[in-house]
Amino acid sequence: MHKPQCVVILDFGAQYTQLIARRVRECGVFSEVLPYTTAIEDIQAKEPRGIILSGGPASVLAADAPKCDKAIFDMDVPVLGICYGMQLMAYLLDGEAAACEQREYGRTPTVMDQTDSGLLGGLREASHCWMSHTFQVVNLPGGFEGIAHTDCCPFAAMADEQRKLYGVQFHPEVTHTEEGCRILRNFLIDICGLKGDWNMEAYAEAEIRRIREKVRDRKTVLLGLSGGVDSSVAAALLYRAIGDRLTCVYVDHGFMRQGESDQVVEVFTKTFPVKLVHANASEQFYRELNGITDPEQKRKIIGKLFIDVFKQEAGKLGKLDFFAQGTIYPDVIESGSTKGSATIKSHHNVGGLPKELGFEDLVEPLRMLFKDEVRRLGLALGLPESLVMRQPFPGPGLAIRVIGELTPEKVEIVRKSDYILRDEIAKAGLDKGISQYFTVLTGARSVGVMGDERTYAYAVAIRAVTTDDFMTADVAQIPYTVLGKIATRIVGEVQGVNRVLYDITTKPPASIEWE
Ligand code: XMP
Repeated sequence: MHKPQCVVILDFGAQYTQLIARRVRECGVFSEVLPYTTAIEDIQAKEPRGIILSGGPASVLAADAPKCDKAIFDMDVPVLGICYGMQLMAYLLDGEAAACEQREYGRTPTVMDQTDSGLLGGLREASHCWMSHTFQVVNLPGGFEGIAHTDCCPFAAMADEQRKLYGVQFHPEVTHTEEGCRILRNFLIDICGLKGDWNMEAYAEAEIRRIREKVRDRKTVLLGLSGGVDSSVAAALLYRAIGDRLTCVYVDHGFMRQGESDQVVEVFTKTFPVKLVHANASEQFYRELNGITDPEQKRKIIGKLFIDVFKQEAGKLGKLDFFAQGTIYPDVIESGSTKGSATIKSHHNVGGLPKELGFEDLVEPLRMLFKDEVRRLGLALGLPESLVMRQPFPGPGLAIRVIGELTPEKVEIVRKSDYILRDEIAKAGLDKGISQYFTVLTGARSVGVMGDERTYAYAVAIRAVTTDDFMTADVAQIPYTVLGKIATRIVGEVQGVNRVLYDITTKPPASIEWE
């Protein structure tokens, strides 16, 4: 089978490892992140055309410092060490790293000493790089020379042109390093000799072939379609690969946004005419959630019921051979290095292979893609932009945007107000600039006056945030005129609401969702 040319990134626990993988892919080169403990045979099996050693929080001098197999330097494959990766390269090749006399942090003036060719070819002599280190290389290993320096760091970059081994003390992957992308391109295209022709069309083609090989003739696949971007793109891809041997089960819990279920059903019965089971289970969900006010309990009940309904429907279909899910790359990377962390909210997703259904194997056609790549793949496959560019939506849906007990009337208030918010944000041309925005039915009711009548009705809150990773978030600065229009429409068009609030809390301390 044709494999894309690939670069392996060995992860030493840096917060930027995923960013390195993304930057490499932005250069049109497929990249895979592997833990630093990966055996040399497994690295070789990937047939990498280049290897990047990530940064990491450890000191190479510590007894338990993470170290990769030194044999990677004898694979005849170019290697680039970044920050800790550079120090480790020096250490393993008999150079020396030591604590800095003065640690460098942030945007640092850097002198590129060799800009005629190689890693720093074509760069300006005076540049700025992003530094973040307390250790650095103090003695170069044999065969290396220094190719950049800063005031405090004599070897801000090093190279052994003969063996094609390179190190940079700074982080070329972050945008604060002015010519970081150029450095990565030099490494990938000039030094590793990669073509840089990896794109979503190529990915789709290769993945379709891979799915066909795995699933083989006459075998069948079941996919849990959630209505979100990932499972929709997975469904489209699988449909292209195996056509009507794919069956999708769409569990509709009744907490989707306005028009969303209809769109999913329409797309997957018309454009991608998969066998689709639309399980409308909303009554069952309301029944089980009756009287429940605690957010965690709500989430747990919804998660469990979702799986139950899915299993019931799957059971009715008879035996299907494979189970497919829309797992994406960040989940794969994170599950490789799970660290103990407090449960803030129990997340609900469609995933989770129901083992007792006895599937032969799992198909995860997106497990190598980042979210924006999944979106581009969806567009390349012909899914509508309105589906593919959707903002994130939590598995439990609008149920966690009604504070306290759920009723169909309350969910309808959120659904209608959310629709108005989205409509006005789009009309104002703000939709691309805000990462996530929605309304919440607060539990509070207050007094108002409409016409000449006293009202006692609900307060709806608007939540709108900007964020890169959804781990931290800023409040979106929606102009008052737009907010005013939204408030007027919500109070005027949604029965049971007489007040609109704007949530101006960042994450942390607040989370993005209210429950
Ligand atoms: P929080 O509220 O934790 O949300 O700040 C961070 C992001 O995660 C989304 N979210 C979920 N996504 N299943 C999901 O797939 C869930 O159960 C879930 N809960 C929250 C939330 O919308 C935001 O984008």
